[in-house]
Amino acid sequence: MAQRVSIGIFDSGAGGLGVLFECLRLSHGVRYFYLADEAHAPYGSRTEQEIASYVREGLQIFGVLGVDAAVLACNTATAACVEEMRRAFPFPVVGTEPAVRLAERAGCKHALVLVTPRTAQCARFRALLAREKERFTVFSPPRLASAVERFVTEGEPLSLSCHLPRGAFGGVVLGCTHYTLVKDEIAAFYSSPVFDGNPGTARRVLSLAGRDGQPLAGISDHQKGGLTTNKRSAQECECATKNEVIFLNSPKLYNKLHNEHMFSTRFPPKNVIFSQMSENFFDFSKKKWS
Ligand code: DGL
Repeated sequence: MAQRVSIGIFDSGAGGLGVLFECLRLSHGVRYFYLADEAHAPYGSRTEQEIASYVREGLQIFGVLGVDAAVLACNTATAACVEEMRRAFPFPVVGTEPAVRLAERAGCKHALVLVTPRTAQCARFRALLAREKERFTVFSPPRLASAVERFVTEGEPLSLSCHLPRGAFGGVVLGCTHYTLVKDEIAAFYSSPVFDGNPGTARRVLSLAGRDGQPLAGISDHQKGGLTTNKRSAQECECATKNEVIFLNSPKLYNKLHNEHMFSTRFPPKNVIFSQMSENFFDFSKKKWS
């Protein structure tokens, strides 16, 4: 049987779950490692140098785990250091960028682009908007990412009117993965379409990791024909068709997410195997298995 493809997903917190959900929707038999750098969040108020050093640490862990590709599921980290990380690591590093092109293609005349304060200042983001600046209004809510993190992980009420400007916009570009977790709420707040880059990011990383989203050859035929004759082959099929998600840190936090919030409603357990790899198993300081 072909070896399981593995992908590392990195964010400052829960924002990267939006990218993970898209990947899970599009893939079979892929192992995902999810790493949230909660100790240094929010990245939106960090310098580019700080962010680059934290991201490097995270990707080093993915390197030890032998991933086939990694995603910076964080617009801020992408804006600050994706090029540097691509040069530093042997595996492909996919970035996450505000979906301004999607808004353009949808014919959006005047869109609001929501990004973190750091992203707004990065040269990479400025270059992205340079071509059609007058069509976009950029706004950086200083505390929205942290508020979304608490909303998602602790159930703290979220009031968008405390963070977002009022106004009429033809569309809203969600330029921070945390904002994509409250996509429906933001769409309702502005009564306008929202654009998020998560599906494109997921397609990109899966193709770079060598998975086009199809089950491994022969597996689906095998199951369809009812030829699974013993437990062992059934287990092998399951392993090849189910995705697996391993949270590398925050076991409590992601248990909560899994059980109470998103995973249980979006992905029935039959499609995804969830597990945790807490500090008991992986020594983050030494970057090795203990
Ligand atoms: N989720 C991250 C992003 O996409 C940043 C949130 C933070 O400020 O840590 O930009």
